[in-house]
Amino acid sequence: MRICTIGAGYVGLVTAACFAELGHYVISVDNDEKKIKMLKKLRMPIYEPGLEELVVRNVKNGRLKFTTDIGEGVRNSDIIFIAVGTPPKEDGSADLSSVEAVARAIAENMDSYKVIVEKSTVPVETGEWVKRTLQLYRKKDVSFDIVSNPEFLREGSAVEDFLHPSRIVIGVESKRAEKIMREVYAKIKAPILVTDIKSAELIKHASNSFLATKISYINAIANICELVGADVVKVAEGMGLDKRIGREFLDAGCGFGGFCLPKDLASFKWICNKLGYNFKLLEVVEEINEGQKRKVVEKIEKLLWNISGKVIGVLGLSFKPNTDDIRFSVAIDIIRLLLEKGAIVKVYDPRAMEKSKAVLGKKVKYCKDPYSVSKGSDALVILTGWEEFKNLDYKRIKKLLRVPVVIDGRNLLDKEEMKKLGFMYEGIGR
Ligand code: UGA
Repeated sequence: MRICTIGAGYVGLVTAACFAELGHYVISVDNDEKKIKMLKKLRMPIYEPGLEELVVRNVKNGRLKFTTDIGEGVRNSDIIFIAVGTPPKEDGSADLSSVEAVARAIAENMDSYKVIVEKSTVPVETGEWVKRTLQLYRKKDVSFDIVSNPEFLREGSAVEDFLHPSRIVIGVESKRAEKIMREVYAKIKAPILVTDIKSAELIKHASNSFLATKISYINAIANICELVGADVVKVAEGMGLDKRIGREFLDAGCGFGGFCLPKDLASFKWICNKLGYNFKLLEVVEEINEGQKRKVVEKIEKLLWNISGKVIGVLGLSFKPNTDDIRFSVAIDIIRLLLEKGAIVKVYDPRAMEKSKAVLGKKVKYCKDPYSVSKGSDALVILTGWEEFKNLDYKRIKKLLRVPVVIDGRNLLDKEEMKKLGFMYEGIGR
């Protein structure tokens, strides 16, 4: 099939590469000339495991092309996926101006029947606006169908999630569009749920907000564990064995971040308010999450008294492991809190050093590995759950630290082992 994806960010680029891998002909459009130039030279603008290999293979076999010309993409395809950014505005609502601009550009370039698919995360009723925009701005009287097909990719495993999804949700208004969408995904083995457009849009916001709620719930339980001396890891294990609850997303820690959960939570809350429903639960979910960030700082204060002038070594900058993405990263927020309190901060991350330099500038000291972070620090703080932090030589780290304090914001390490090694160890909720 002939597919156009508009927006070559995390979602758009992964979608384009994976559709090409499935045998479709894909044109990936982005208005960022630098990004398209890079991609044409087979250089990746983001780090995502497995992505480069797919892009290289499919560009070489002629199934994947890149362009900045939206008209070229629209005219040469039958299905158009809108995968542009919907960043948060000050008030928490999603900025849909890029979606509108793309809808207008599609309208102006449509020359035959097209299926136009919302892939970006958008608030409920956006489909109606896209439809209206297409009707208002189309030049010829060509017919089209709108589809909502939310993505459920996780950064760090986006390619795997695309090719082996838990479900494919297709929100449609016509049998014709449903048939085409089923064909697009024919090679993927996963349950397909067909709904109306609004329900599909809601599935996305409801899912991400539920995941955020699950994390804040276990973080609240972690706080209770700390009050009574219980272990949240064990509590999560016990809860998770109930199939109705499930163990996933019950890892307590210093909070959730990234460009999806916090933004979708805020946007969902906003649209609910606009519709006349005050979704208070989501407010508390956010509040608990903010509290977890402060918790890390409080733990350092508990062990070291004043933070001002202390050297704090930080391991982890990305919002989660296996990505270089630092957008809404809890680690960056906590570093800012530490800097506000006058700490001298040293940092290391396996992938996110470059991107962090752009936001933290010269305010922190960038180190080449975890050992140089530890050298002369008053405390070592783990803020991202990179696997490699589990297997460090902690005996060596103990010698390098000025004081053997480890604050484990992701409950990555074995508490008993750390104590045996002579550390003052603090996890979250244990
Ligand atoms: C999230 C959803 O998991 C995907 O299903 C969704 O498609 C995606 O958003 C999106 O809307 O595009 P992602 O933002 O990549 O995916 O990251 P997650 O794996 O959900 O992690 C988000 C944050 O929650 C991270 O900061 C992580 O450290 C934290 N987290 C996750 C916890 O603190 N505890 C957990 O148990 C799980």
